[in-house]
Amino acid sequence: MIIAANFKTFKTRQETLDYYRDVKTFIEKNEITVETMIFPPATALNTFKGKTVVGVQNAYPVANGAYTGEIGLNQLKEFGIETILIGHSERRHVLGESQALMVQKFNFFKEQGFTIVYCIGEPLEVREEGNEALMAYLDAQLEGIDLNYEDLVIAYEPVWAIGTGLTPSADEVELIHTALRQKIKSPILYGGSVKVNNAKELLALNNVDGALIGSGALQSENYCRILEIAESIK
Ligand code: PGA
Repeated sequence: MIIAANFKTFKTRQETLDYYRDVKTFIEKNEITVETMIFPPATALNTFKGKTVVGVQNAYPVANGAYTGEIGLNQLKEFGIETILIGHSERRHVLGESQALMVQKFNFFKEQGFTIVYCIGEPLEVREEGNEALMAYLDAQLEGIDLNYEDLVIAYEPVWAIGTGLTPSADEVELIHTALRQKIKSPILYGGSVKVNNAKELLALNNVDGALIGSGALQSENYCRILEIAESIK
């Protein structure tokens, strides 16, 4: 079971340090064994010491170079970062990144041996077309991605469920995860409005191997409560 927190464009460097310390104390005190990952903004990268893996929300697929506003491998190496989110819906849909760029990033960071949390998910209009259209949409987002990569984690996050308080029904989540499981051996996380009050139901579903959480994990207390839930059902 993997419980990952995506801070998006929230938290300063100090807030991130405080969060990390709170989680570390909680994990040690409660002997939490589920895997924990956090994705702070790039300005909050640091050399963290603890079991919780720190990854980046994005990076450009180069060691360094003339890419204004981006960070590359060398900036990540400075902090020992070896985990990256690729394909988050906000990068695809808000920032307009193409599938071709996702594949380029995937291949670059795979080559570097990074753990890659690769996100997929459909917009509402695709879901409304039915399951066949939905799976075809997800398949297109997996195009060019090596699904046999050993350090791959998939995060299924319906776009319409992210930050909205809406989630698919438990049956719907299980159906999609089970369909994905047919082609993906890696852990498959669910994301999209996971909170303390629905984590138990979602994490207990077949083929749900954890969660990627935004707003519901922005407070360290909530993240820790979800860790406790995950620990009880893993
Ligand atoms: P949310 O975000 O938990 O706020 O819906 C999830 C995500 O974007 O990864």
